[in-house]
Amino acid sequence: MPRAALLIGLTVAIAPAQAWADNPPPFETGGNLAAARAAAKDLGENLRSELIAALKAGGPSAALGVCRTVAPSIAENASKTHDLTVGRTALKVRNPDNTPDAFERRVLADFVRKAAAGSDPATLEHAEIATENGKSTFRYMKAIPTAAEPCLVCHGSNIEASLKAEILELYPSDEATGFVAGELRGAFTVRRQIR
Ligand code: HEC
Repeated sequence: MPRAALLIGLTVAIAPAQAWADNPPPFETGGNLAAARAAAKDLGENLRSELIAALKAGGPSAALGVCRTVAPSIAENASKTHDLTVGRTALKVRNPDNTPDAFERRVLADFVRKAAAGSDPATLEHAEIATENGKSTFRYMKAIPTAAEPCLVCHGSNIEASLKAEILELYPSDEATGFVAGELRGAFTVRRQIR
């Protein structure tokens, strides 16, 4: 796999573990990549099961509350468990707190390009050691595809009118609608300071 030193930090394309046997990238030290992948998986799976349970129990309106209040606490738990910070971001956000920084914007744009070129969004991930405020920080992102079920209920083009009104009341600057199944919705994003 290609490796490229950028002006800031070092970019290493994700490669199968075997290809690293002789010369592992620096973010492998301390198990950063394994922890990041596990945190993204935890957050994704726990959110999804809470979301589906809430949709079943109380419909989209109840599930909205899960996304709003439960999502941050699931992210916090996954962060603690894996000793890092994990969250979600996207180019088009519902919650402005999830707005991407410059690094995230660049990686998301790269995911969009790769998906347009035919990559399955479910396989896209990126890890890098970045320099932030003079400190080395491990950063990781994993693409989140839009599934037809249940994502489009709240992120698609035909959102039921009363649900749409509720969403806009909670998120007046909502940009996260109009997605289609299979499209890149956003990404899990991880940071961990290198010690
Ligand atoms: C019941 C409505 C609902 C459903 C269904 C839903 N979401 Fe969301 N989604 C939300 C809400 C509300 C937020 C804002 C959460 C917050 O305040 O952090 C959100 C935020 C997000 C974010 C974080 C970025 C942003 O826009 O703020 C991503 C990524 C995301 N959703 C992906 C998905 C995916 C993928 C699915 C399907 C598995 C899905 N959502 C299903 C309501 C929903």
